[in-house]
Amino acid sequence: MARIGSSVSEAARLLVRGEVVAIPTETVYGLAGNALHVEAVARIFEVKERPTFDPLIIHVLDLPAAQNYVQHIPKPALVLAEKFWPGPLTLLLPRKSIIPDLVTSGLDTVAVRCPAHPLAQQLLALVDFPLAAPSANKFGRLSPTQAKHVEEQLGNEIPYILDGGPCPIGLESTIVGFENEQPVIYRLGGIAAEDIEAVIGKTGLQLHSASNPRAPGQLTRHYAPRKKLVLGSLEELLKHYPAHSSGILSFRKDFGLPYQRLLSPSGNLREAAQHLFLYLRELEAMPVDVILAEPAEEKGLGRAINDRLRRAAATTAQPHTYE
Ligand code: TXA
Ligand code: MG
Repeated sequence: MARIGSSVSEAARLLVRGEVVAIPTETVYGLAGNALHVEAVARIFEVKERPTFDPLIIHVLDLPAAQNYVQHIPKPALVLAEKFWPGPLTLLLPRKSIIPDLVTSGLDTVAVRCPAHPLAQQLLALVDFPLAAPSANKFGRLSPTQAKHVEEQLGNEIPYILDGGPCPIGLESTIVGFENEQPVIYRLGGIAAEDIEAVIGKTGLQLHSASNPRAPGQLTRHYAPRKKLVLGSLEELLKHYPAHSSGILSFRKDFGLPYQRLLSPSGNLREAAQHLFLYLRELEAMPVDVILAEPAEEKGLGRAINDRLRRAAATTAQPHTYE
């Protein structure tokens, strides 16, 4: 059973030995291993039950560290890194061959991120390798935003969970790649698309339903059973679903029902993002047949929240994945 503690040196000691440990980041908890050590990377895929065609993000201390693992950084990527690192931004950059094929699923680019969480920063300062880390959940399940969520799913398979408290952002990082130096957002996340565009101008948007567009459909084998989620106007949905056996995920309105969560009573998108995965997790565990959810306003972090809700709704209608 995993020990849970806040010892960065213990986490570093295990990582140096080639083991995988769960670590806090400001977005969600990650399942980390030495990205340059193929056995450790293989163990990440194994523990997560993740197909190896779905590449991992490497986590580095800072921009100079990132430069050790990528061939070149396009100008807009450099501008974004200088503005948003450390923080919830992942950049897809041409990789150096020191990064094992297994990390990138054979792609020419590697996903690189510099996490802001103080414990992640301390840990990266202690080790002399980058940390490959996907979200620390079983493949297809919700990302964990607390150490105990990691323990529930992976506690039997890893030696240590570095507890850094609840994740302050609560949504995974925003992923930006470059096609002929032109920026493209591949995943909406903890940094709003508008904030990225404010720095580098218009970006493309290519959100794939499966994380690896080259392998559509293969992911359906990996989803886990969960409650059906229906997205729409709660007032309308409550005309069709029984109020007392439905879980309600509202943005701010209190429906006075037994199984409900309010993402942000004050209507704040940051607060809503921070609570999203926790509340979905709690609603899934309640004695309800279905979860009814309403979309957030389609702007800023609301777009990333809605992206996750749409995936959750699609997952349950037609088996899919949260990633
Ligand atoms: O906030 C985060 O990004 C968290 C924390 C732990 O850092 N990590 C995370 O990792 O969400 P993961 O593995 O759950 O999601 C990474 C996504 C996947 O959809 C993967 O397909 C995509 O990044 N990805 C990784 N490398 C890629 C590449 N070279 N090209 C395209 N997509 C890539
Ligand atoms: Mg994930």
